[in-house]
Amino acid sequence: MSGPADAPARPRDYIPLYDEFDYPVHDFDGALPEGLRGTMYRNGPGKMEAGGQPLGHLFDGDGMLSMYAIGDGVLHFRNRFVRTEHYRKSLTAHGAPYRALGTMRPGGLLTNALQFPANVANTGVTVHAGKLLALWEGGRPTELDPDTLDTLGVHDFDGGLRWIGAFSAHPKWDNRTGDMYNFGLAMFPRPGLACYRVDRTGRLHELGRLDLPTPMFNHDMGLTDRHLVFVIPPLVFPLRKFLGAGLALRNFIEAIDYDARRGTMIGLVPRDGGKPRILHTDALMHLHLANTYEDGSDTVVELLNYEATWAELNGQLSNAQSGLTGAKPYGGKLMRVRITPTGRVIHEPVSDLQGDFPAYHPAYASRRNRYVYLAAGADGTPHPSAIAKIDNDTGKESLHRLPEDTAAHEPIFVPRPGPGAEDDGWLLVLTQPRSGDPASLLVLDARDLSAEPLYRGRLRHHMPLTFHGTFTPRLAQPA
Ligand SMILES: [Fe+2]
Repeated sequence: MSGPADAPARPRDYIPLYDEFDYPVHDFDGALPEGLRGTMYRNGPGKMEAGGQPLGHLFDGDGMLSMYAIGDGVLHFRNRFVRTEHYRKSLTAHGAPYRALGTMRPGGLLTNALQFPANVANTGVTVHAGKLLALWEGGRPTELDPDTLDTLGVHDFDGGLRWIGAFSAHPKWDNRTGDMYNFGLAMFPRPGLACYRVDRTGRLHELGRLDLPTPMFNHDMGLTDRHLVFVIPPLVFPLRKFLGAGLALRNFIEAIDYDARRGTMIGLVPRDGGKPRILHTDALMHLHLANTYEDGSDTVVELLNYEATWAELNGQLSNAQSGLTGAKPYGGKLMRVRITPTGRVIHEPVSDLQGDFPAYHPAYASRRNRYVYLAAGADGTPHPSAIAKIDNDTGKESLHRLPEDTAAHEPIFVPRPGPGAEDDGWLLVLTQPRSGDPASLLVLDARDLSAEPLYRGRLRHHMPLTFHGTFTPRLAQPA
């Protein structure tokens, strides 16, 4: 449905939610499964203005954590904005208090030149060593109380993260040791990815660095038994544009070019911090990796390839923010990138389904998994309109379609406790009608996506689409 031609476009998937709630969900169908107990946390941009000024890019919205505590047959909801400096100042400022990736603050060059984008803590969330951390890839994590979601402050791992201290939004885990691996984008003194291991006590160890040939943008990483795996699309900051962004002649997000001629760079960084192995392959355009693992002597990476340029993908993100419906179907296609010991890089298509925000059984991280779940643009919709399950063994695909004009947030797979098949568990899926009506939390039986949800809990309000979430068996104590 469209409004008058001169009416401002209304954000459909990112309608701001200013209020902060705390309540048990009493409006539901079905029942929460026995055995499903713990807490899902999600993060995403909760409001798309600061100090009354509309923000220029989806990535600039203040991070809002939401919490879904499931125990004793009850779902309890809570949400809180992360009290970053940007958020706190945005409440009373006239206009944006800081520069952001795609936003200038009022005052022109004088107030924006040589200013880094503000940390809005809006991208990922993780629980590690007892700490709940909101993640943003350009800076340090922000720690929150896992029960109240009160902001406790910026977390630098006791000084382990130095200077800008970028700590990406996509850490990965070693299931055997409980160690968390991550990287941070570093532009100075030379461009590279600083690699980290955070042990199970929460201590950060530097693991060396993957040098980049030029300033580039990378969002995700993989972890195998031997390597930290980086598949870096040809997203570069040309010097002229980078300097222009630094001098506030353009936004940082506009300083990114997609240079297909460079191809995609693959970096395999040994876990012991040894010399990285570098390979190149034809250009891919992805943001997210699914699983990564060693397959005999090959290293395998699964990713969602958009078969598009950055300009096209960024255009889709802008459309979602501004309320325009993107003409292109949502999502990328799942593919496998196989790296052989001799340096061959083989592209293996997996599915023609389009989707993103992959999920899989967490115990299968770093080893071959049979099932991948996606938020999918079923039937060519421009938004994630279904949850998909892809069977790597048989190629079979199954879908759980949402009601018309309803968008799915990233699915989270939670295994049923005890031994069981790889798909014996549940998918937690937050869904949002694009009309702005209240959101729901669905619990799907991952063995049979075509079945009705086991549980549908209706929230009292809408939820702007979130980027990423995590699940912990620890049950938050909302009261
Ligand atoms: Fe992401």
